[in-house]
Amino acid sequence: MFKEEILKILRKEKIPEELLQAPPNPEMGDYALPCFTLTKEYKKAPQEIAKYLEKKLRPSKNIEKITANGSYLNFFINKAAYNKAIIESKLTKKNSNKKVITLDFSQPNIMKPFSIAHLRSTMIGNALSKILSNEGYKVVKINHLGDWGTQFGKMMYAYEAWGKKTELMKDPMHYMTNLYVKFHKEAETNPSLEDRGREWFAKLEKGDKKARAYWELFSKLSLQYYNKTYKRLNITFDSWAGEAFYEPQLKPTIAFLQKKGLVKESEGALIVDLEQYGITPCIIKKSDGSTIYATRDIAAAIYRAKTYKFNKNLYVVDVRQSLHFQQVFKTLELAGFSWAKDCTHLPFGTMKFEDGVMSTRKGIIIFLEAVIDKAVESVEKIIEEKNPKLENKKKVAEQVGLGALIFWDLSHDRIRDITFSWDKVLDFSGETGPYVQYTHARAASILRKTKEIKAKPSYEKLATAQEKELIKQLSIYEQAIEKAADQYKPSILAKYLITLCQLFNDFYEHCPCLTEQDKTLASARLHLVKKTKAVLQHGLSLLGIQAPEEM
Ligand code: ARG
Repeated sequence: MFKEEILKILRKEKIPEELLQAPPNPEMGDYALPCFTLTKEYKKAPQEIAKYLEKKLRPSKNIEKITANGSYLNFFINKAAYNKAIIESKLTKKNSNKKVITLDFSQPNIMKPFSIAHLRSTMIGNALSKILSNEGYKVVKINHLGDWGTQFGKMMYAYEAWGKKTELMKDPMHYMTNLYVKFHKEAETNPSLEDRGREWFAKLEKGDKKARAYWELFSKLSLQYYNKTYKRLNITFDSWAGEAFYEPQLKPTIAFLQKKGLVKESEGALIVDLEQYGITPCIIKKSDGSTIYATRDIAAAIYRAKTYKFNKNLYVVDVRQSLHFQQVFKTLELAGFSWAKDCTHLPFGTMKFEDGVMSTRKGIIIFLEAVIDKAVESVEKIIEEKNPKLENKKKVAEQVGLGALIFWDLSHDRIRDITFSWDKVLDFSGETGPYVQYTHARAASILRKTKEIKAKPSYEKLATAQEKELIKQLSIYEQAIEKAADQYKPSILAKYLITLCQLFNDFYEHCPCLTEQDKTLASARLHLVKKTKAVLQHGLSLLGIQAPEEM
């Protein structure tokens, strides 16, 4: 802050800008200029130079004092101006940088419930899309649905053999899941079912009418189900082009790779040999002739490059698919696409559930909605205990329950495996979503209780350690967003918000706002509360979390 003003003074004096540093201790002002390397130009000892410059340089608008201190020249910024600039600055989205990012996230597999991995992808991807948009990127949010593959054949067989439409329509997702489970059980004793499934899928690939109609039905029902969750999480997409969308492009894609001389036959399958790069081969066509996940991703990347002309093409996908993306990106590079280097897999680890809380034992599928419902119900109970008179209890519980889930995920570095425990996730005083939301509501409640904010604030009076620390943390908010965007890590922003809350609560404990008799100081503090509240709300919104005014 105001560094530019000091640099201007230095430039006039032909002193190299890069010499200006942050001083080792606060007594040495806000910036310091070591004079050791200036001896040649000034033909004086460093201490003499400092004294000379002290006399020569004039303070300017926001630079209050310039003093020599040994071999250093110290610059003091006007506190009132500094505090005011931070506290009254507006939170704005950066101007467009004209760069396009395609962001592939969520990607559930049709006919299957949303898994925890898909939930992670959804929450991380959604936060990234907001953080990157805030940095000025044009983000294209793509839901690369898993809506093609042999599993469709299995379901068609199962539905033909055992299904009933009336039953299906009652509760499609559970019904399809059960049919799928049944198929696998039966296939254990009767392996020929696998062949029947493959036959159905082959029909689908050939465009058979009946198979196509089933595909449409199952897809439609699944999407209706996912949309309920997206709506609840307030998430939208720009494109729903899933795996099926690329089906017509697969043949040309394979032909193209063949023309480039990249394709080999191996045991009846078509592969791209990547051995010399230390990567296992990328299979692009199976021995039974069916195309495969990797081929569709190759086609999808080519399509995205053409359609969106991306500067970056990102994939928020489980770390267990790292090899897959290595294979795909390497194949694209070998095919001569210069943009292959702009494709990045953003991996995340596994979310585990504490035993007995929400079992992930084999065979038990966690329905995401049940997890969300449980979070919301738990919050409702807590509200009932702590603040039974709260208006809009249901709505707040929904916001806080979802906030708890989302924040728990996003506050951990995405690559880490994380363990989910209801006690930790819902702890109102731990490093959690409810803690941040609660701190925000606390700030809101302070502001509701007072009119003092109308008095003219004396920002220079904000001088206690707590006030200074809080202001300092507010001053680096933009940097935190930038860092989160550069590293594609919402956790950086989440951690920033936790620290901000801790400093705010310290401040509030030590610096009275509502009972302070000095009106201009009270007003300055209340403005500080207002700014903190705005940053908390803004930061939460970038993570995809709402900030209720009361809770
Ligand atoms: N549907 C896939 C799965 O659940 C994830 C898709 C990831 N995105 C991609 N472009 N491959 O495993």
